[in-house]
Amino acid sequence: MGVPSSFQHWDPYPISIVSAQGAYMTDVDGRELLDLSMGFGAMLAGHLNPEVVKETKIALEQGMLFVTPSPISRDAAERICRRFAIDQVRFANSGTEATMYAVRLAKAFTGKPAIVKIEGGYHGSYDPLTVSAKPSLDLAGPAEDPHPVVPEGTNPGVVFVVPFNNLDALERRFMSDSSSIACLILEPVLENLGIVLPDEGYLAAVRELCDRYGILLIFDEVKTGLTAGAGGAAQRIGVKPDLICLAKSIGGGIPVAAFGGRKEIMDAVADGRMAHFGTFNGNPLAMAGVRAIDRICTPEALGAAEALNLNALNRISTIIDEYELPAHTVGFGVKGCVTWSETPVRNYRDYKATDFGVAELSWLWSLNRGIITPPGLDEQWLISLAHTQKEIDILVEDFREIAVALRS
Ligand SMILES: Cc1ncc(COP(=O)(O)O)c(C=O)c1O
Repeated sequence: MGVPSSFQHWDPYPISIVSAQGAYMTDVDGRELLDLSMGFGAMLAGHLNPEVVKETKIALEQGMLFVTPSPISRDAAERICRRFAIDQVRFANSGTEATMYAVRLAKAFTGKPAIVKIEGGYHGSYDPLTVSAKPSLDLAGPAEDPHPVVPEGTNPGVVFVVPFNNLDALERRFMSDSSSIACLILEPVLENLGIVLPDEGYLAAVRELCDRYGILLIFDEVKTGLTAGAGGAAQRIGVKPDLICLAKSIGGGIPVAAFGGRKEIMDAVADGRMAHFGTFNGNPLAMAGVRAIDRICTPEALGAAEALNLNALNRISTIIDEYELPAHTVGFGVKGCVTWSETPVRNYRDYKATDFGVAELSWLWSLNRGIITPPGLDEQWLISLAHTQKEIDILVEDFREIAVALRS
C-alpha cells in the first residue's frame, strides 16, 4: 500500500506530508493543510511545540538510550502519577503495548483468564482486544448480547463483549462469568466511533459493578488522556479505574505510552507475576516529551483550547439547525465531531446506523479544501494548543459551505 500503517491509506490515495508547524502541515506538492487530526491526538501541543523541541534537544545532547533508569525517567513517572492520580506507572512505546500490559496485569493479579470489552471498542492490536473492534453486523449477533467476533489469525483467549451504556447487559455477563473474568476494559468516552459519551451515571455504576463482582476496571485513556482535560477523562468524570492506559497526547508526538494504577496491582509487575520488559521503555527522548507536555498542558492552556472547541461546536450546531441537516455535534474536551444521525449515538449499533456516505463526503470535501481531519469516518477533530480563533473560523466556514452544497 506504500504506507507504514494501514490507517495511513485512504481512497483515492493518501497525502504525503513533508513538514508540519503549529496547526499546519505541508504536503509534497507544497500545499498547506490545516491539521485537525493532529496525529490522532498525539500532537495536542501543536507541531514542533517550542517547549517539546527544547526538552527533546536537551535530552538528545545527553544521549539517546541508556537502558537504565535515569533522573528523567523518574521525573516523568512522578509527573504522570501526580497528574493522573495513580500510585505507580510503567512506560511503554505505543497504545497497543499499554493496553496489552494492562490486560495481562489484570489477569496476573486476579489469576483469572477472561476479559470483557465493549462492542466496537478499539484498543490497538493485542489479540484479545481486536475482538469485535469493528465487527460486521452479520456476525455480531443480538445487540443486547453481542457475539465476540474474532479476526482471522488471532488467538484471543476468552473475551466477552458487551454493548456500551448498557448496565443490564454488563451485570448479566458479570453474574454468569465473574469467577473467570479478570477485568473490564473500556474507553471512558468512546473515541473510535466519532465521540460516544457515557450516559449520566454509567461509569460510576460500572465501577460499582466491577467492585461487587471482584473484577478490575481498566480505562483505556490512550485517546482521551490529556485531550479530555488536565487530569484525563477519569478525573473529569469522577470515576477512578484500577488501571489506566495512556499514550498519544502524553508525549508531545514522541512514541511513548504508560500503564499504571493502584500499588497493590502494580506489585504484580514488581514481583514478576507479570513480565514487563522493553528496550525503549522510558528512553530519554520519550521522557523529555512527557516532561515538556506536563509543563505545557496546564488546566489554563487546555481550558483555552476547549473554549475554542466549544465555539466551533456551537456554531456548527447552529448551521446544522439552520440547514436542517440530519446530524448533530458531539464534543469532549478539545475534541469534537459531527455525527450524521438525528438521534444520539450511545453504542456501536447506533453508530452503524449513522450515514457513512455523508460522513465520507464531508471528509473528502474538507480534504479538497485544505483541511485534514482523520480518515475512517469514526474519528474527530482535535483543537490543539496551536489552533486559534482563525482556524476555528476556517473549520466552521468550511462546514457552512458543505451545508449549503448539500441543500442546493
Ligand atoms: C483507544 C485506543 N487505544 C489504543 C490504541 C492503540 O494505540 P497505538 O496506535 O499507539 O498502538 C489506540 C489507537 O488509536 C486507541 O485509539
